[in-house]
Amino acid sequence: MSVTKAHVEEAETGAGVVAPAKQSFGARVGAHFKRFWWAHLIFFVICVLVISLPVVYVAYPKIAQDAVNDSTLNITQMVISDPTPDSFQLNQTQVLGSKSPYHPQIYEFEAVVSLLGAAAPFTTVRVPGVKSVDGVEIHVEQKVDLSDAAAFGDYATAVMLNEEVSLNIYGTPGLKQGALPKTTVTYNKTVVMKGLNKLEGFAVPDFHIMIPAVNGYNMNGTVYIPNPSVMTISMGNLTLNLAVNGKAMGQTYLNDLVLKPGNNTIPMLANVNQAAILTMFSSSDNPYKDGIVPFQITGNSSVYHGKNLDYFTKALAANNLTVNLNVYQALKEAGLDLSST
Ligand SMILES: *[C@@H]1O[C@H](CO)[C@@H](O)[C@H](O)[C@H]1NC(C)=O
Ligand SMILES: *[C@@H]1O[C@H](CO)[C@@H](O)[C@H](O)[C@H]1NC(C)=O
Ligand SMILES: *[C@@H]1O[C@H](CO)[C@@H](O)[C@H](O)[C@H]1NC(C)=O
Ligand SMILES: *[C@@H]1O[C@H](CO)[C@@H](O)[C@H](O)[C@H]1NC(C)=O
Ligand SMILES: *[C@@H]1O[C@H](CO)[C@@H](O)[C@H](O)[C@H]1NC(C)=O
Ligand SMILES: *[C@@H]1O[C@H](CO)[C@@H](O)[C@H](O)[C@H]1NC(C)=O
Ligand SMILES: *[C@@H]1O[C@H](CO)[C@@H](O)[C@H](O)[C@H]1NC(C)=O
Ligand SMILES: *[C@@H]1O[C@H](CO)[C@@H](O)[C@H](O)[C@H]1NC(C)=O
Ligand SMILES: *[C@@H]1O[C@H](CO)[C@@H](O)[C@H](O)[C@H]1NC(C)=O
Repeated sequence: MSVTKAHVEEAETGAGVVAPAKQSFGARVGAHFKRFWWAHLIFFVICVLVISLPVVYVAYPKIAQDAVNDSTLNITQMVISDPTPDSFQLNQTQVLGSKSPYHPQIYEFEAVVSLLGAAAPFTTVRVPGVKSVDGVEIHVEQKVDLSDAAAFGDYATAVMLNEEVSLNIYGTPGLKQGALPKTTVTYNKTVVMKGLNKLEGFAVPDFHIMIPAVNGYNMNGTVYIPNPSVMTISMGNLTLNLAVNGKAMGQTYLNDLVLKPGNNTIPMLANVNQAAILTMFSSSDNPYKDGIVPFQITGNSSVYHGKNLDYFTKALAANNLTVNLNVYQALKEAGLDLSST
């Protein structure tokens, strides 16, 4: 007996079962569905999943990621206060820009913050959850621990020396659009901020020589520091070195310096090596016959409540300032006229 024969017999038996029923087409279809409803249900479910799963799990995350990539971030206010060697209070306002027709909820996330291109980030900031709507403001208010104070020093130095500074903000927030499931997106934004631009415009609009010295200081006055950035920075008590032609001539002090956006006019105290200055003026090769002396000013230290802030010290030391001060006029005002000698 061959296998083929057995198969034919079986097929005949099968046909024999259906043949006597002789139902109408509609009734046959109805019977078919009644019997195989589960198969149709599975087929329907598979069709729904085949269509919707790629939408939910492939297209939706991609659309969400694209919307996040296309969004912009502007930092409109940044307040650095209460600095310690390894932390500070950060109060920041960011404005989200989004042209997307979707307005998903972005969940709170940890953002790693670094100077663009730096080897290491300097901190991690907790960004609060926000509904992604064009122009929405995000407020960050937290004590920031500096994971890498040296990297923050590089950032502070870049802010000091440059017209613009790029900050990189990186994180993987959860995102949810309407009834769709929560998905995770990569947030990798570079935010360009204005820097202090070498304190361009720094000036000493007025100063006075105090004879005798008052509280150990022999000079006072005001300094003018323009701040084109949106940053308010508490820098503590600053000590700056004064030099003339590379020769140390004393130090100047800016106490409790809080640099605000815009123009800052700040009281200054100094201890100038008056003997060295008088010696310079009385020497035969005095190059400053008119009494106007170019003082070089460089950072010495930034101290906040007794603690040295290395990152600000480094940023200050990286910058060179020169101001021309009319010393003859100041001495004359103090009762010492050298211009006639
Ligand atoms: C969006 O940004 C992520 C992370 O930076 C990147 O991997 C991806 O290629 C970007 N996608 C598009 C569509 O630009
Ligand atoms: C920063 O925000 C905190 C918390 O809201 C607030 O207590 C503090 O006064 C703010 N500091 C500054 C300098 O705005
Ligand atoms: C962000 O800043 C850029 C450039 O200054 C500006 O074109 C853009 O409109 C700003 N976006 C928002 C949301 O403020
Ligand atoms: C973020 O994007 C920048 C360029 O835009 C890239 O250099 C950097 O590697 C990205 N960061 C991460 C963690 O993917
Ligand atoms: C600076 O010193 C001069 C002269 O001693 C004095 O008249 C003036 O009040 C002082 N200014 C400040 C801000 O201390
Ligand atoms: C700051 O000072 C500059 C020059 O002294 C002046 O042009 C500018 O208007 C001042 N800005 C503000 C906000 O006072
Ligand atoms: C800072 O000033 C002190 C004297 O007050 C001096 O000994 C020290 O060398 C200075 N440091 C720098 C980096 O200028
Ligand atoms: C700055 O120095 C003055 C005088 O020594 C002191 O009273 C003040 O607390 C100091 N400020 C800071 C922020 O350390
Ligand atoms: C400041 O002067 C020092 C020494 O002269 C120099 O090494 C440094 O590059 C200068 N910095 C800037 C920003 O010009």
